[in-house]
Amino acid sequence: MTTPTAFTSVSALIRRETSMVYDEGKEYLVEARLAPLAAAKGLTLEAYVARLAFEPDERRKVIDALTINETSWFRDHTPYQAFTDEILPTLLERRSTTRKLRIWSAACSSGQEAYSIAMLLDQHLPAGWEYEIVATDIATTMLERVKAGRYSQVEVNRGLPATSLVRYFTRVGREWEIAERLRQRITVRHLNLAAPYVGLGTFDMIWLRNVLIYFDAPTKQDILRRMLPMLALDGYLLLGSTETTLDLPEDLAAAWRREPIGRVQVHRRAGAPPPSTAPAVSTTPLTMTGA
Ligand SMILES: C[S@@+](CC[C@H](N)C(=O)[O-])C[C@H]1O[C@@H](n2cnc3c(N)ncnc32)[C@H](O)[C@@H]1O
Repeated sequence: MTTPTAFTSVSALIRRETSMVYDEGKEYLVEARLAPLAAAKGLTLEAYVARLAFEPDERRKVIDALTINETSWFRDHTPYQAFTDEILPTLLERRSTTRKLRIWSAACSSGQEAYSIAMLLDQHLPAGWEYEIVATDIATTMLERVKAGRYSQVEVNRGLPATSLVRYFTRVGREWEIAERLRQRITVRHLNLAAPYVGLGTFDMIWLRNVLIYFDAPTKQDILRRMLPMLALDGYLLLGSTETTLDLPEDLAAAWRREPIGRVQVHRRAGAPPPSTAPAVSTTPLTMTGA
């Protein structure tokens, strides 16, 4: 059993290094996920936790073990529908000069989100267009998985249409490997969302889904504030279906405008062109008329 001291120490470590909140009541989770790491070192859980302060590699393993990496292909479906029905056609018009799209899958887990977007772009981008998807996460084991682009049968059964499996995957032993041409479009980077975003450039769209729920209110606000300059003025931010900007302080809530697209609420920067505005070629701010 985890002692209260060991739990407090792990909870503080996770808070310090990832900003994730591991409150009381999660002792069972800490124990279940760290026991194998302690056993691999031949230590009790308490002795293992006591050594973490001196062992950065083990700390990284603990972070990886305690992140919640739940994900699936085309998760929740409706954001992907909004993407192909409205967001992508609008971006195609607005980027008709550069013919390049940059999309950020922030908190990408094992990559199903990034590769789902890549499949849609592969199908819908006209010839001559380029795209880059930057996939970031704090868990290094997850990033290795994105790079490898290999998934188990159980994983491909979760949300991936059979036609996409046939079209984009090759069987390798007991796993399925995603096509090289999609893997080439994904730039994988280690990134803590609670730390500065350096050298990422700006994006036409940011998928920040199912991760804000793990942070406290000040961290969530800080992240959403720092996301603003990461997004092109006419870009789109997508949050998870249970995540909202409704609880933000007034100035920050005003900086993110909510816009319904189909059954999804997307978020746009204040000053972004309203939905009905004829697309302009440049990303110069348009004068807002009542949006
Ligand atoms: C539940 S998954 C969401 C995956 C995907 N976005 C989706 O919606 O299916 C949450 C991911 O957030 C990552 N994460 C947690 N804290 C993070 C942080 N501080 N910075 C970056 N990623 C973090 C975890 O490693 C995990 O892979």
